[in-house]
Amino acid sequence: MPVEALFPSLVYVAPLRRGGTGTLNRRLLRHCDQIRNDDVAGRRWSKRNYPGGYTSYNSAARLHRESDAFAALERAVDRHARRFAWQLGLDLAGRELSMTDCWINVMPPGVAHGLHLHPLSTLSGTYYLRTPRGVPGLKFEDPRLERYMATPPRRADAPRALQPWVVVPARAGTLILFESWLRHEVTTNLARTERVSVSFNYNWF
Ligand SMILES: [Fe+2]
Repeated sequence: MPVEALFPSLVYVAPLRRGGTGTLNRRLLRHCDQIRNDDVAGRRWSKRNYPGGYTSYNSAARLHRESDAFAALERAVDRHARRFAWQLGLDLAGRELSMTDCWINVMPPGVAHGLHLHPLSTLSGTYYLRTPRGVPGLKFEDPRLERYMATPPRRADAPRALQPWVVVPARAGTLILFESWLRHEVTTNLARTERVSVSFNYNWF
């Protein structure tokens, strides 16, 4: 077919490490429990901004600078972020792409996380620590939706890349990276137990 795909929105999905992540994940999960217990300000903020769930986004968002376990996660994610930046064709021009924020998210059953993007960042992503059966994935929105005007809906059998919404499954040990302007959400957690993840932003200095 004489058709060229222009202006793609790239999403990077990969296992964090080939050799397995069980030990690192257990360490990170222990930290998550501890942080949630200790973080009174974060629990208060989450009550207003993430009803039913807990996030350290507003209270402890530089975890990669605060614990060895999260620093190890940062080193592992850095390698993927560099690879993704290359795939995106980004010209980093002597400046460095580095992790600026790193926070945890605990999503109990029945909780959702609304549509949002990550302002003031270059790349963002999530690493999954606990994903019981039935947890929602990360749902991305076509960034051109508001320009579609009279565009008909896509056929159900149209390729995934042409759909206006695409869900990337959340799996423990898996990393998802995307450009920070790409809007996304997490629909209601239908699993019986908590979904736990670590999110991060990268910026270009
Ligand atoms: Fe997000």
